[in-house]
Amino acid sequence: MNITMIGTGYVGLVTGACLAEFGHRVTCMDLDVEKIESLKNGGIPIYEPGLDVLVAKNVKDGRLQFSTDMADCVPGAQAVFIAVGTPSSRRGGGYADLTYIYAAAKDIAVHLTDYTVVVDKSTVPVGTARQVRRVISEANPDADFDVVSNPEFLREGAAISDFMRPDRVVVGTDSEKAQEVMKKVYDPLFLISTPFVFTGLESAELIKYAANAFLAMKISFINEMATLCEEVGADVVDLAKGIGLDGRIGSKFLHPGPGYGGSCFPKDTLALLRIAQENGVSVRSVEAAVEINAAQKARMVKKIRDALGRNEAGKTIAALGLAFKPETDDLRESPPLAILPPLVEKGAKVRVHDPQAMEECKKQYPDFTYVDSPYEACEGADIVVLFTEWNQYRALDLAEMKSKMKGSVFVDLRNVYAPKQVIDAGFEYHGLGRM
Ligand code: UDX
Repeated sequence: MNITMIGTGYVGLVTGACLAEFGHRVTCMDLDVEKIESLKNGGIPIYEPGLDVLVAKNVKDGRLQFSTDMADCVPGAQAVFIAVGTPSSRRGGGYADLTYIYAAAKDIAVHLTDYTVVVDKSTVPVGTARQVRRVISEANPDADFDVVSNPEFLREGAAISDFMRPDRVVVGTDSEKAQEVMKKVYDPLFLISTPFVFTGLESAELIKYAANAFLAMKISFINEMATLCEEVGADVVDLAKGIGLDGRIGSKFLHPGPGYGGSCFPKDTLALLRIAQENGVSVRSVEAAVEINAAQKARMVKKIRDALGRNEAGKTIAALGLAFKPETDDLRESPPLAILPPLVEKGAKVRVHDPQAMEECKKQYPDFTYVDSPYEACEGADIVVLFTEWNQYRALDLAEMKSKMKGSVFVDLRNVYAPKQVIDAGFEYHGLGRM
């Protein structure tokens, strides 16, 4: 099939490269000339494990190309995906800015020739697919097309395997013809018996928000349980295991942490609440998840302060991890960047290390000291705080870290280490939801 991907951001580029790997001829289109030039020269604008190799391979094999011109790649495509950004609107309050979506729809419209399926891949409020359909029909009344909502469930850092082996594929459309085209797009997934959920447009749009809101709720729940565990002397890791083995609950997404971050959960929970409010419905469970997440970050500030004897002035914090999760350089809504600044404001100094996210962080937080290794971060530090569970932080030489430090406090916000192991290395241990 000929497929066009409009937007070469995170979702567009991963989806485009993976569809090329499925055997389709894919053109990734973006108005950003510099980005496209760089992609043509093998430059990958984001860090995502395996993406550089996948792009290079499919370009070499002639299945993946790049363009800045819709006239080049929309005519003759059987499916045109819209994967442009939907940033939070400057209006705030969970509104999404859909300018790029509608601009893309208008541009696509004038280049449509034969029957084409226009696929909404970006996460958009309920009702957007119908609006896209209206925009295209108005811009080109003769266009022969259908609109499909096909939300993505890619996790940063694991996006390629999530695409190649998804739990499910959701296809929202009221057209059988479009359904058949989408089956061809995802043909290799039928071989591995991937479940497909065919629904109407609105259901598909809402599924994406509901899935992310539910996962956010699960995280906020376990974070509250961690606080309760600390008070009653229970261990949240055992608790998560004990409840997670119940198949109705499931063991995934029950890891307490400094709060969820990233580009999806914070934005999508607010967007869901906005959609609910606009429709006169209150979704209190999700409201609570959002509030708990803000409180969790504030609680982490307090936890670190308490561990420093409630006096952070002049103290040095070694911070391990800046990205909101491992295997990404993404700093959006990253908890350490909400937790460290209030401590710096009170006079703490911060020495940070992250395997991927330091370059971007330097631009935003020039006052932190950036170092090349977790051990260097510990030099002269009073306290070490593990924020992100990168694999390279899972087997640190704790004794070596301790030997470089002035103080001896270890705050493990991801429960990576067994408390005894840390204590045996000479540290005072503070985990989440455990003694
Ligand atoms: C998420 C969804 O998982 C994905 O399906 C959707 O398409 C986009 O949003 P992503 O934001 O990349 O993906 O990361 P994810 O692995 O889901 O983690 C999100 C946040 O939750 C991170 O800050 C992570 O640290 C936190 N988290 C996750 C926890 O604190 N505990 C957990 O048990 C799981």
